[in-house]
Amino acid sequence: MGRPSTLAKRATTTSATSTSTSKVADAACTNGPYTRTCWSSGFSAATDFDAKWPVTGKTVSYSFELVNSTCDPDGSGSSRPCQLFNGQLPGPTVRANWGDTISVTLTNKLTTNGTGIHWHGIRQLNTGDQDGVPGITECPLAPGQSKTYTWLATQFGTTWFHSHFSAQYGDGATGQIIIDGPASSNYDIDLGAMPLTDWYYQDSWVVGLQAHASLQAFAAPPPADTILINGTNMSPNNQTGAYSKTTGLVAGKKYRLRLINISVDNPLRVSLDGHPFTVITSDLVPIKPWTTNWILIAIGQRYDVIFTATAANAKVGNFWLRVHYAAQCLSSGNNNPNALGIFSYANAPSGNPASTAYTEPADCIEPLSNLVPWVSNTVNSTAFLNQVGNLEVDISVPGLDGNGQNIVIWGVNLSAIDVNWDKPTTQYVKDGNTSYPTNLNLIELPTEGIWSYWIIQEPSNSPVPIPHPIHLHGHDFYVLGTGSGIFDKNTSPSTLKYTNPPRRDTAFLPGGGWLALAFPTDNPGAWLMHCHIAWHVSDGLAVQFLEGKSSSKFPLGDSSWDANCKSWNTFDATMPFPKTDSGLKLVKDSVN
Ligand code: C2O
Repeated sequence: MGRPSTLAKRATTTSATSTSTSKVADAACTNGPYTRTCWSSGFSAATDFDAKWPVTGKTVSYSFELVNSTCDPDGSGSSRPCQLFNGQLPGPTVRANWGDTISVTLTNKLTTNGTGIHWHGIRQLNTGDQDGVPGITECPLAPGQSKTYTWLATQFGTTWFHSHFSAQYGDGATGQIIIDGPASSNYDIDLGAMPLTDWYYQDSWVVGLQAHASLQAFAAPPPADTILINGTNMSPNNQTGAYSKTTGLVAGKKYRLRLINISVDNPLRVSLDGHPFTVITSDLVPIKPWTTNWILIAIGQRYDVIFTATAANAKVGNFWLRVHYAAQCLSSGNNNPNALGIFSYANAPSGNPASTAYTEPADCIEPLSNLVPWVSNTVNSTAFLNQVGNLEVDISVPGLDGNGQNIVIWGVNLSAIDVNWDKPTTQYVKDGNTSYPTNLNLIELPTEGIWSYWIIQEPSNSPVPIPHPIHLHGHDFYVLGTGSGIFDKNTSPSTLKYTNPPRRDTAFLPGGGWLALAFPTDNPGAWLMHCHIAWHVSDGLAVQFLEGKSSSKFPLGDSSWDANCKSWNTFDATMPFPKTDSGLKLVKDSVN
């Protein structure tokens, strides 16, 4: 298979000295309120950041300790065990500039659990050993041990990090990432990241076991108890707790807000009364700005939005931010499904807002037609269209098939993944061992520089026919299309979009339908793709692809990687709470 020309620059271009193919920033153009598309000499929002990025030579360093704690964020008295980075809820923010190197040293201060940090949405170009996925790219970090993650910010925008060790992130082990860079629309003031999450009054271990039992019985997992905005909310009876407050808005100014859904189970819909949102990103991809009153955010997704403070609104002063559980997406529900936060103008009267909500949509539709990347890239459709005719007739049959072709079909009720914490996929590559146990759900993508296409199909007899937020590590994927029912090889291909399709790292697989994705093989590594509903990945709803195993750039980890595995294996031999799930979000594995 020849190397597609649209891909050549992506596969062969990895340094700052490479030439861009499109609009290049004026050297004199610097980033400011009226020139947000600018960044620095030669780099702008128009730069194809998969092909080119600045290299500042600067390293931004952080130290995190993961500590046992207890949490009662709404003061309801439902205090529960939690596990927090530096004891903070929400977790700390990592902030750097586009092109900086980020270096984070994590110390595991827990006594009986492993951990690690996954940098959600970060490409990790040739640094997959820093992707932080236990059993895939590393051994978990044993209690008392430290590890330093180092990676280059080739992208810019808003994302988050979280533990990928079983369902630990549901216990608060998350944080925000802001990489400052250009933007596709102007704004005056950056309000920073606003993490939004469902919240349970019991810890993830307990709820995870209940969720597992319900999934076995084809029943819904337990509903969440409430929603936290920036780690806070009033209690359901409104007696305790606090609203998240953003104050000091000034008429005439434009504000950038970075929304992140870090939930375990709930898709969330967000609106700010009286202030339409101009949406400028889909995950870490700048898009053509578009305006909406409500935005639906799947678990793992981010949207950066801009709103304008107006003189008329300044007279009113206080406005509700509404964060609702999106019931149409049919996840397990939420006992306190409508959370509120407050946005106030400078000199606003005291007291709660009396603002009116915009009409809330009643759907579970990702706004794909509005997600138009600022930098237009085209997916090579040739291999896809040549091969799609040869697909099995009934692709709803569970199973994965690479067939040596570019198209992989993933029926989401295939065998559950079950990784081995003691022996990550990377170790197999180091050892030249190709005897992968079946339940690693491993698909080899041996050839670099080609397009890989995925059709993810929720079978008609799916036990959980609900929308699933599908997330890929190591790449942004191109969303070629979605549909209801079974993908039809005769009619569905003509509905797909190959010219500048939406690009992001997390997308909805429609309930009972299909999702077609593409990505170029340009990053050797072991990459997980999974449903980001923590209970689903915990129950094994994941595959991993082993990309470019023979490439000299395949990240094998250094001596500290080996030392970390050694300490983990020593701990694991006597671990008080053995693994009871897929390992990616809770079963002591039988595979060694
Ligand atoms: Cu948010 Cu597998 O990651």
